[in-house]
Amino acid sequence: MSYLCSIVVTRLLLLVVFSLSLTASNANSFESFLQLPRRPLRSTRTRPRSERLLHVGHFGAKGNGFTDDTKAFEDAWKTACSSKGKTRVLVPENYTSLVRPIDLSGPCKARLTLQISGTIIAPDDPDAWEGLNPRKWLYFHSVSRFTVEGGGTVNGMGQEWWRRSCKHNHSNPCRGAPTALTFHKCKNMRVENLSVIDSQQMHIAFTSCRRVTVSALKVIAPGSSPNTDGIHISASRGIVVDNSTVSTGDDCVSIVKNSSQISISNIICGPGHGISIGSIGKSKSWEEVKDVTVDTAFISDTANGVRIKTWQGGSGLVSKIIFRNINMNNVSNPIIIDQYYCDSKKPCANQTSAVSIEKISFVNVHGTSATKQAIKISCSDAMPCRDIVLQDIDLEPSKGDGYTESFCWEAYGSSSGQVYPPSCLSGDESFLEQSVRSGIITSVSYL
Ligand SMILES: *[C@@H]1O[C@H](CO)[C@@H](O)[C@H](O)[C@H]1NC(C)=O
Ligand SMILES: *[C@@H]1O[C@H](CO)[C@@H](O)[C@H](O)[C@H]1NC(C)=O
Ligand SMILES: *[C@@H]1O[C@H](CO)[C@@H](O)[C@H](O)[C@H]1NC(C)=O
Ligand SMILES: *[C@@H]1O[C@H](CO)[C@@H](O)[C@H](O)[C@H]1NC(C)=O
Ligand SMILES: *[C@@H]1O[C@H](CO)[C@@H](O)[C@H](O)[C@H]1NC(C)=O
Ligand SMILES: *[C@@H]1O[C@H](CO)[C@@H](O)[C@H](O)[C@H]1NC(C)=O
Ligand SMILES: *[C@@H]1O[C@H](CO)[C@@H](O)[C@H](O)[C@H]1NC(C)=O
Repeated sequence: MSYLCSIVVTRLLLLVVFSLSLTASNANSFESFLQLPRRPLRSTRTRPRSERLLHVGHFGAKGNGFTDDTKAFEDAWKTACSSKGKTRVLVPENYTSLVRPIDLSGPCKARLTLQISGTIIAPDDPDAWEGLNPRKWLYFHSVSRFTVEGGGTVNGMGQEWWRRSCKHNHSNPCRGAPTALTFHKCKNMRVENLSVIDSQQMHIAFTSCRRVTVSALKVIAPGSSPNTDGIHISASRGIVVDNSTVSTGDDCVSIVKNSSQISISNIICGPGHGISIGSIGKSKSWEEVKDVTVDTAFISDTANGVRIKTWQGGSGLVSKIIFRNINMNNVSNPIIIDQYYCDSKKPCANQTSAVSIEKISFVNVHGTSATKQAIKISCSDAMPCRDIVLQDIDLEPSKGDGYTESFCWEAYGSSSGQVYPPSCLSGDESFLEQSVRSGIITSVSYL
């Protein structure tokens, strides 16, 4: 009885949260849901006296939205980066600066802040990238002790790129498009209180970074825009994403390539493809992603909820992943592990090697599923998934009176608490029995 009550209460709460996010079209309702800080912890207005302020206007930026401000940004960066004391580069509130693809690289001599209070826009014509790397727009390289903040907006003007995408027009070749903000080889940095919208492809990427905190980030692009991941984390360690909102046409967050110690919390996600570990193991690569926690997420109207996707033929390991306190609303594959991921025009051949997947927990996951199969754990015959935990799950159909079900293939683990749809995991003991019989286990160190 009390279980039934708690289901009713949970569904009512979900309904309230969802109708709030529906009726209040402005972002403020999101903020109140997440209780974003009203003031920055360290106010940008109380700038310490020792900090040098560089206004991009003093370097020739016009901020009128059509004059090319690229040179001014380059010059301001050069001055700031070689400055011996703390420096702040300011894009003021009333500026809209048109900036072409630009490399802003370190190492810089001292702590540096880029305060984007106004707007930075990309050229709207893809031809502006002719002869340049099509994957970069604002590219930060080898920066440490660097902060991006200011409450302003970075606008990728991606419409023409999307129109030409092979996902929208199949007669076009599949080519890469720019990531709006890339941080490569960064260390000890923060991104806070920033909007990144309509990127040509991914919105914000951290590649080979250490110790990064992202907070109060807002990423927005149409649900139909192709490959527009919100936050992409690759080959990085020690990344925290907190208090953020992502609505795009692809993954809200994607974590790939030898990344570890990643924490995603208080995130609102949707529309889009949900929160993904992967894809991993493409083109027979070896990759490892471990120690990832996703805690407190509201995921709505997405093609997946929380997902692990690996390609056949790859190798490596996905382990110690926790998805906890997740609210789903009308999500198409709320819980999904897919060792048969294939995102190519022709079907992928069956292969025997696979990225192994173990120690994955789904704890306190509630809400509604847009498809019958609310839990799908599809693992490879050669490399079954081990140590999967389902605890306190309630995923009801989003449309009225139906039911949901779970699907497992070569999936071993345990469940506890109330789990609906009922768990389909096989006990780890049966994994051992079967493995001993078929000789899969060569070492028992896992025990
Ligand atoms: C997220 O918001 C909470 C509540 O306002 C705040 O305490 C926390 O410091 C924020 N997280 C980050 C990383 O700034
Ligand atoms: C921004 O505001 C300042 C101060 O009011 C003014 O001098 C400047 O012309 C404005 N710039 C733009 C690009 O609107
Ligand atoms: C974001 O920046 C704006 C403009 O500087 C400021 O008014 C606002 O309080 C900041 N918000 C957060 C959450 O830091
Ligand atoms: C698709 O792309 C081809 C080649 O670039 C072009 O000729 C055609 O008009 C495009 N179709 C649409 C519907 O945009
Ligand atoms: C991951 O790291 C391993 C060993 O450190 C390396 O061999 C492998 O190429 C890396 N994988 C990727 C995709 O970078
Ligand atoms: C649920 O999601 C499906 C597919 O993503 C969408 O077509 C439908 O409109 C959504 N339903 C509601 C009630 O929002
Ligand atoms: C791969 O194996 C599955 C299951 O045995 C089978 O249904 C599927 O047709 C195979 N795919 C290919 C491309 O051979």
